[in-house]
Amino acid sequence: MNDQPLRGRLVLLGVTGSIAAYKGAELLRELTRAGAEVQVMMSQAATHFLGPLTMEALSGRPVMLDPLELQSDSRIGHIVAADSADAILVAPATARWLGAMATGLANDIITATCLASSAPVVVAPAMDGDMYVHPATSANVARLREFGYTVVDPDTGSLASGQHGIGRLVPLPQLVQAVVQAVADRPIREPDPAARPPRAEPRRHDLADMHIVVSAGGNAEPIDAVRYVGNRSSGKMGMAIAQAALGRGARVTLVKGTTTVAPPAGALVVEAETAAEMRTAVLDALPGADALIMAAAVADFRPLERTAAKLERSEGLSLRLEPTSDILAEAASLARAGGEGPTRRPVMVGFAAEAGSLERAPEKAARKGVDLLVANDVAEPGSGFGSDTNRVTIIVPGSEPEPWPQLPKSEVAERLLDRVAALRAGRSAE
Ligand code: PMT
Repeated sequence: MNDQPLRGRLVLLGVTGSIAAYKGAELLRELTRAGAEVQVMMSQAATHFLGPLTMEALSGRPVMLDPLELQSDSRIGHIVAADSADAILVAPATARWLGAMATGLANDIITATCLASSAPVVVAPAMDGDMYVHPATSANVARLREFGYTVVDPDTGSLASGQHGIGRLVPLPQLVQAVVQAVADRPIREPDPAARPPRAEPRRHDLADMHIVVSAGGNAEPIDAVRYVGNRSSGKMGMAIAQAALGRGARVTLVKGTTTVAPPAGALVVEAETAAEMRTAVLDALPGADALIMAAAVADFRPLERTAAKLERSEGLSLRLEPTSDILAEAASLARAGGEGPTRRPVMVGFAAEAGSLERAPEKAARKGVDLLVANDVAEPGSGFGSDTNRVTIIVPGSEPEPWPQLPKSEVAERLLDRVAALRAGRSAE
């Protein structure tokens, strides 16, 4: 018996945002055990259930998340995948995805790739029972069958909602078997690895000689003994940068404001609850550093007076606030004036929290004197405060703004560090 029936095949695994997405990692393992090379594609919703980093580590290929994204060699990612795949397996497939595919709406990476591909497609719906039997879903499933797609009907059993009914993703070996049947008697489509989507570069220790100062979280500016003025920063963005920098070998000083997440092991953590403490910590850490990355949401105002005792409610309260000093602008100006010379000057990176429009960001980058500003629209779902993902636009003074797709904060961190490393290397070469 052939225990590797998919040997030499390239299978695209499309994961959409059903709770069953958590099984995606095990499904990927089953496909690779059957001999397949797997390229993972995930809808944005799927990334809430399963980390792309996990799928990248297991598949050895960067996960495809955005139909507009180019590969590192500038080829269009989903076209390369569509043209080289032996089969596409969409599991789990949500009701939304079935609807998008049935009507050819290519607004996510998986539909765009299916539309562009002549490879056989296997679809495994998984959702709530009432959703699956809704006439709209039934019509979409029927339409996919008309395309020649293999639809593996879900099982009946207990569902994530706590109900019992149809909608469970079928056992994973059954899905692998459906892919094996779909490719049977077909030759391997594109055996040349260069014609397939690229494999992930091995994680490098490329920042091993760098000292990076990262600020994360918000500030708590005291009003009295127990109350403070604060903001909604969780620290996730800054922690992701610190974690990624440590993973790439950098020495990291983490200036930690108020956060809801713990700092990564290995960073030198300096606690800084107020903007004034953060200013001291950043300026102390800066001499000799290679980069400063200010992801913290530094308090812009603090109460003019702080009462040592606890204020009584009956007294009422009017707060007068004064502006804090701009740490990033001061650090950038000190670095420019410092005696270290232009080649040793640290790379200065700021974040800009904007709401509704990023129009003001280029002016902010110039005013603060940074080398690079990461602008995020904090009013957008899945972006900014508290979320595990972020959609950022990179502003480098003198260049066109560069919008990135919505990505997990860990991936924003990796890509940002690529840019910081390139800026640092360019400076050293000057
Ligand atoms: O922590 P999370 O929940 O993961 O959320 C991430 C985030 C939204 C906090 C992060 O992505 C972000 O946008 N951080 C910057 C927030 C901010 O303070 O933006 P700003 O536009 O007000 O400030 C611009 C830059 O100046 C920032 O780098 C800030 O750190 C810095 N600054 C601001 C005020 C001040 N007094 N001193 C400063 O150094």
